[in-house]
Amino acid sequence: MTRRNLIRASLGTVVAGASSGQSTKKGSAEKGNEVFDEQCASCHNAYSSDRKKGPGLKLLYAKEKLESNGKPVSDANVLAIVEQGGKGMPAFREGLSADDKADLLAYLKTL
Ligand code: HEC
Repeated sequence: MTRRNLIRASLGTVVAGASSGQSTKKGSAEKGNEVFDEQCASCHNAYSSDRKKGPGLKLLYAKEKLESNGKPVSDANVLAIVEQGGKGMPAFREGLSADDKADLLAYLKTL
């Protein structure tokens, strides 16, 4: 296989992963910031750990455990909360595209 074909083959894998709803795609933190401002900022502080309606998300990925369910902070567990919601948090499974979710995760890591 030539080098170019190899690169093309691995790109294909990334795209396939994204369309099957997995968060293997690398999101854009910049776009995630926009999604956050529209969908999440009314209930979550991004730059403080003070609670609004939900926990402040500053340094989310530096925390050992999620406040809401005590699970380790990982893409899978954060995504589960975003998709399923929780006590006082709406579910976003239908409301956000796979791209939106990947972008959001990328953004949350920058906090
Ligand atoms: C209507 C208010 C509301 C909105 C909108 C909302 N959340 Fe939440 N969120 C909450 C509440 C309340 C909790 C705590 C849930 C619990 O304890 O079960 C929470 C919990 C979380 C947690 C877990 C934090 C932790 O430490 O346990 C994350 C991550 C999170 N939300 C992300 C988001 C994202 C991303 C969005 C936007 C897509 C969003 N939330 C939109 C209210 C909201």
